[in-house]
Amino acid sequence: MKALILCAGKGTRLKPLTHTMAKPLVPVANKPVLVYVIDQVQEAGIEEIGIVVSSENEEEMKNAVGDGSRWGAKITYIIQSDARGLAHAVMVSQDFLGDSPFLMFLGDNLIEGGVKNFVEEFNSYGSDALILLKEVPDPRLFGVAELDESGRVTKLVEKPKEPKSNYAIVGVYLFTSEIHRAIAQIEPSWRGELEITDAIQQFMNMGKEVRSHVLDGWWLDTGKKDDLLEANRVVLDNYLKRKVNGQVDAKSQIVGRVEIGEGTVIENSIVRGPVSIDENCEIRDCFIGPFSSIGAGTVIEKSSIEYSVILQNCRLKQIKRLYDSVTGRDTQVIQQEGGLEGLSLFIGDDARVEL
Ligand code: G1P
Repeated sequence: MKALILCAGKGTRLKPLTHTMAKPLVPVANKPVLVYVIDQVQEAGIEEIGIVVSSENEEEMKNAVGDGSRWGAKITYIIQSDARGLAHAVMVSQDFLGDSPFLMFLGDNLIEGGVKNFVEEFNSYGSDALILLKEVPDPRLFGVAELDESGRVTKLVEKPKEPKSNYAIVGVYLFTSEIHRAIAQIEPSWRGELEITDAIQQFMNMGKEVRSHVLDGWWLDTGKKDDLLEANRVVLDNYLKRKVNGQVDAKSQIVGRVEIGEGTVIENSIVRGPVSIDENCEIRDCFIGPFSSIGAGTVIEKSSIEYSVILQNCRLKQIKRLYDSVTGRDTQVIQQEGGLEGLSLFIGDDARVEL
């Protein structure tokens, strides 16, 4: 079994952050989503991993992830020069995949409990494909599966305007190498892409057995700002342990599950978990509230922050209340005396905002 992790997408729905950062590298609880994905692939016992990148993000991805040795795995980078769809990404990976069955994982998706059980389920049933489904309130944003009374998949449609079910297709799939024959037969969709959803439908039309598994646990697709904040909340809620390094002065209170990295200084502040503060930050005269992640090297003064993702090397000053916000790397947000009471921001890297 090999794994193919798709990371070539443009991350359009997460602009402005993705103007300057590959979407799978956007951090959740101070760790890139892609790193969680590779952790889950490794837990499933897969050691040969292909990562599909674009020509623009190739260097950035290689720098962030390396050759896989830190997971005891071998990572091969495969370039998909035009974003022509998920099935197209599989097409350009054929040399890497060969005749092997494979786990395909979208680099911005995460599922509770990892993928080990699904790899085992696929291996033991000997079907041609296994797809994961999750009931969602608005399936129009996803591939959608229609099921019969016995739970078998009868039809798959990519982003239907009028969905016939609430079962979204999760970005984790298992295939035998036969899928390449189905991909060779599909045409681009209305959005000009070779859709993996259409390839799986074609697979069924060819008489292949496509099994499905409905997820009970959470599924995160860090597509948009609110999804990213939700992913950050869920990961902090589920995984964060209290671990206080750095220096905390006597006037500060660190309450509950809070992670504070080496070299970080906390003065005269309240930090109420779950909160992750990375290395070498300075937090002075602040309230840092639940479900916030603060990237390394960030300095925050006289501010109150809740339910936000602040990336590396930001400067935030005198912000009365920042909530539901995402700020890119190296941004500065400074509020003058008497400014707004509450702020919800989504700003990209290198921004400077004075209020
Ligand atoms: C892709 C797939 C879609 C799937 C979704 C899961 O959508 O095309 O079928 O439900 O990932 O994240 P995209 O991210 O390309 O909009």
